[in-house]
Amino acid sequence: MHTFEPPRLAQVFYISRSLATPAEVEKILQGARHQNRQRGVTGSLVFTGGHFAQLLEGTTVALADTMAVVTADRRHQAVRRLVEGELAKRRFEGWSMAFTEAPGADDLIEQLLTQPEVSAARAGRLLGLMFKVPVF
Ligand SMILES: Cc1cc2nc3c(=O)[nH]c(=O)nc-3n(C[C@H](O)[C@H](O)[C@H](O)COP(=O)(O)O)c2cc1C
Repeated sequence: MHTFEPPRLAQVFYISRSLATPAEVEKILQGARHQNRQRGVTGSLVFTGGHFAQLLEGTTVALADTMAVVTADRRHQAVRRLVEGELAKRRFEGWSMAFTEAPGADDLIEQLLTQPEVSAARAGRLLGLMFKVPVF
């Protein structure tokens, strides 16, 4: 007997090194928001000047499609997934892509890119920037 399985909600949180100019970042955001609305993807993008951090939320199928275009985009490189897995509830419901500029977080992301083991504390600090909470 087949039982109906609703689409599973998942999240991906990744970082990368930017090759984009500020004007290109604006274009990336426009394209991202357009495609995310069509795929039912929500999330948040942080741009530091030298790096990106992005949280993506959606069904596993929508996220796989999105990560395929994201990793193929030559306006950034060295994409590293920090967190990936099932999600009970969206944190950016209603946001096709929120955006935060965080020029102070370049070193934090570079450390997360280059260290062999991902520090949960550092990843958590970075995630916190998306919510504009105080960082200690
Ligand atoms: C930092 C960054 C974030 C991106 N975020 C998304 C996204 O949230 N959703 C999406 O569909 N594509 C995303 N993309 C991929 C681009 O939007 C995609 O490559 C673009 O839509 C296709 O290229 P085009 O601008 O030449 O049409 C992202 C790309 C980069 C570099």
